Amino acid sequence: MEIAQSLQQIKSSYIREILAAASDKNVISLAGGLPDEKTFPLELMKPTLERLADTPEVFQYGSTSGYGPLLSFLGDYFKLPGTHTIMITTGSQQGLDLIARAYVNPGDKVLMEVPSYLGAMQVFGLVQANILTVSQTDFGPNLEELEQCFAEQKPKMFYAVPDFHNPTGVCWALETRQKVAELCIQYDVALIEDAPYRELRFSGEALPMVSDFCPQNAIVLRSFSKIASPGLRIGVVTGKVSYLEPLIKIKQGADLHSSVPMQALLHGLLEHDNFETHITIIRELYKSRYDVMFSELEKQLPTGCVLRPVDGGMFVWVEIPECDTFELAKQLLVNGVAVVPSPVFYPEGAEVKTALRLNFTNATSEELKVAVTRLAHVLHIL
Ligand SMILES: Cc1ncc(COP(=O)(O)O)c(C=O)c1O
Repeated sequence: MEIAQSLQQIKSSYIREILAAASDKNVISLAGGLPDEKTFPLELMKPTLERLADTPEVFQYGSTSGYGPLLSFLGDYFKLPGTHTIMITTGSQQGLDLIARAYVNPGDKVLMEVPSYLGAMQVFGLVQANILTVSQTDFGPNLEELEQCFAEQKPKMFYAVPDFHNPTGVCWALETRQKVAELCIQYDVALIEDAPYRELRFSGEALPMVSDFCPQNAIVLRSFSKIASPGLRIGVVTGKVSYLEPLIKIKQGADLHSSVPMQALLHGLLEHDNFETHITIIRELYKSRYDVMFSELEKQLPTGCVLRPVDGGMFVWVEIPECDTFELAKQLLVNGVAVVPSPVFYPEGAEVKTALRLNFTNATSEELKVAVTRLAHVLHIL
């Protein structure tokens, strides 16, 4: 049977291939975006897991927008305005998929920063969006380019990851957040703010979300994958009621609702007295790993490589001298370290910077040191 045209243009995921190779026990993987499973708050989940065995109603079909007690907990937690509503999704990835299917016709313009999150490019590619790009500075998107694009191209939405961007780790400055919100209002562009790494800040001061400055123009995606566990598959979408209603319709057709027992488990976890402590612990752990990796990179990388420090998240982006990054990634695998080469983070036709994305949350500090030594060795003989 012939596959749909929309799928024919999607390239097979290089990340999937590299992650498969990276599972070899001799390879240290800096390739995925995985939290460390030893940090999963299983002890904090135990009381809820036990309680769940006595609550058969939680194992019944549930409502599409989500499990009531979790929705009301999160509604208070996020301090949503009265005009807004909330929906639980099967990971924030599903939220993105629902937005793409609800709002994007083939050829509709969707703007994103480059480089960009691969999963977003896939989702918008599948609905045949016309993906426009804006370059990224150390403070967020290039504002001149952004305004010019808004004014001349009139995109329908701007997809953005303002907190600890995947793949670059960039965190937008306060002024950038305010200006982007202002431009979204002025040019009537919907902001899709994707914030899975927001809680993983380990340095500097927390900043308001971009959507705080344009709540009526934004849909926000949040995730519990990075601070609780990705296997729960729980994300949250919030926005004004008229923005979310179409998403609920599409979710009904997609999977009826996200797993209710998993939502109840997350609810118990969020209510646990020690959940905040758990987040503090993972922030400290990831900071210590980041510090080790960053200082080893500074010491060992050959000249010509450009490193950008980060204040949180899971990734460091290393610009390297011009080369075939796919070939380099293969060489690195042979030398026992997995990384992701930069071209996978750019849509077709965009100008690609030669770089590697390195994850620092899944390997131990000792492994990170070894991995950087292997990386530097291969880069020195390039
Ligand atoms: C920017 C970004 N958005 C969304 C996701 C998907 O997260 P979830 O596990 O909640 O589906 C990821 C996962 O790595 C991501 O990096």
